[in-house]
Amino acid sequence: MKILGLSCSPRKSGNTVILLEEALSGAQQEGAETELFSVPGKDIRPCDGCWACHQTGKCHIEDDMQPLYAKMVESDGIIFGTPVYYYSMTGQAKVILDRMIALEGRLANKVGGLIIVAGSVGIITPAKDIYFTMIMKKMVPANLVGVYGFGKGDVREMKRGIQAAHNLGREMVQIAAKKFEYPAEFARSFFAYGTHTH
Ligand SMILES: Cc1cc2nc3c(=O)[nH]c(=O)nc-3n(C[C@H](O)[C@H](O)[C@H](O)COP(=O)(O)O)c2cc1C
Repeated sequence: MKILGLSCSPRKSGNTVILLEEALSGAQQEGAETELFSVPGKDIRPCDGCWACHQTGKCHIEDDMQPLYAKMVESDGIIFGTPVYYYSMTGQAKVILDRMIALEGRLANKVGGLIIVAGSVGIITPAKDIYFTMIMKKMVPANLVGVYGFGKGDVREMKRGIQAAHNLGREMVQIAAKKFEYPAEFARSFFAYGTHTH
């Protein structure tokens, strides 16, 4: 059982990382192997919309998203973590979600957890956007942990938030152990039906 934590904060060892580490320690407690992938220092470029991945199953951009793709595919569950930036997720988080298009079908049945840190306001918009993406990927959603903290390390004071992050990690493993599988027969459509769609 492998659980991957993905921090989309550009701030090294900030609040998002602290909460993800706590979640991963919860996952370890349940017997999982864990890994944290954090974006600072990584070269992850935006999707260029070439659609080549639909033919090749692979993104042509050779950057640090390539090892992240491999880690995502190997994992049984992924905990996405992002701070709120301008009432939404960080740019880094959005770039990674966009690039996940190249994993078409390969995230199905993996458990998806979510940790969002806000200085003051804005947790709901990124929560909805990231959960929606998980649903489109046929992932199995676990809990959302929202915690308030502004300065680096502030979330350490939020004892209930730390506990909730720990429990999220445990829940990830327990959900994954149920080995839920969506029926493969039904595609999940990205588009509303219209004359230009197929
Ligand atoms: C560019 C920028 C925009 C931000 N926008 C918001 C916001 O809209 N709402 C909010 O509650 N906090 C906002 N924040 C505060 C961060 O969410 C907060 O500092 C958080 O703890 C950062 O998490 P980290 O330590 O993991 O980087 C913003 C911070 C930055 C740098």
